[in-house]
Amino acid sequence: MNKEYSCRVVSRKMLTTDTAYLTIECPEIASSARPGQFVNVSCSRFLKRPFGIASVDISKGTFNIGIKNVGSGSSELTSVEEGTVINVLGPLGNGFDLASSDNYILVSGGTGVFPVNFAYENLKAAGKNVAVVQGFRDKSQMCLSSDEYVVTTDAGDYGIKGTCICGLDTLSFTKDTVVLCVGPVPMMKAVGEWAKSKGLKCFISMEQRMACGIGICLVCVCKVKAEKEGVPFEHVRCCKDGPVFEYGEVIL
Ligand SMILES: Cc1cc2nc3c(=O)[nH]c(=O)nc-3n(C[C@H](O)[C@H](O)[C@H](O)COP(=O)(O)OP(=O)(O)OC[C@H]3O[C@@H](n4cnc5c(N)ncnc54)[C@H](O)[C@@H]3O)c2cc1C
Ligand code: FES
Repeated sequence: MNKEYSCRVVSRKMLTTDTAYLTIECPEIASSARPGQFVNVSCSRFLKRPFGIASVDISKGTFNIGIKNVGSGSSELTSVEEGTVINVLGPLGNGFDLASSDNYILVSGGTGVFPVNFAYENLKAAGKNVAVVQGFRDKSQMCLSSDEYVVTTDAGDYGIKGTCICGLDTLSFTKDTVVLCVGPVPMMKAVGEWAKSKGLKCFISMEQRMACGIGICLVCVCKVKAEKEGVPFEHVRCCKDGPVFEYGEVIL
């Protein structure tokens, strides 16, 4: 069941000039969220805005989201004052399958670092082998990074100059490795094709525009390959049937 909570913003930290990291109090979400799931957060606009869950602290009853300021709703949320109470619906969506392998490669582009961070924390806690590739436009956009990660920048002012694919090409991996990827569609397409060329399973998380977040309004539909013969595609709801899909299943 989808539940809406009134939650206190415990802290707000700016990670870059335009990206905030909020710690939000909600023991119910903290204890039930799975990596890859998201929350729908209220602002003064009519519709709530979706953000991937970046981390949870079950003992403190808090969870984190990272918000990049790209418009009216996110602008408000990146400058929200500590102590403010906001309405949050969640956790929503299906989340990643983190049980099917012992070896993972996590790839993020831009704000994809946030849901990927939650997956990383869970996989490490479960003792799995995890390699992380982060792609940013330039050094000023870097956040939630680590010396252990492979970082690529388009501008070449940090790490490897180029796209995530340049970073992926530096990794060695086993045949059972699963690739999880969150970022802009062209990047997920490139990563999906890279994984396919290596014979690896790949899952992507779709960040469609959303409204209700719970499968009712159909704002977020995307096309997937149809199971019935003769039917070219079917529509699915990214918020409810996704946002995580196997690459190859979705028509991008
Ligand atoms: C499942 C999911 C998880 C997401 N996780 C994160 C996250 O962890 N951190 C984060 O910063 N953002 C995330 N987003 C994107 C975030 O929801 C949008 O950036 C935000 O809703 C924009 O609201 P706004 O009112 O500021 O923008 P608007 O004023 O409505 O639009 C401003 C600009 O943002 C673009 N935009 C609006 N919605 C989206 C969207 N869903 N995806 C991409 N661009 C969009 C518009 O095309 C427009 O160019 C996620 C989206 C989804 C669907
Ligand atoms: S956002 Fe309403 S159905 Fe997905």
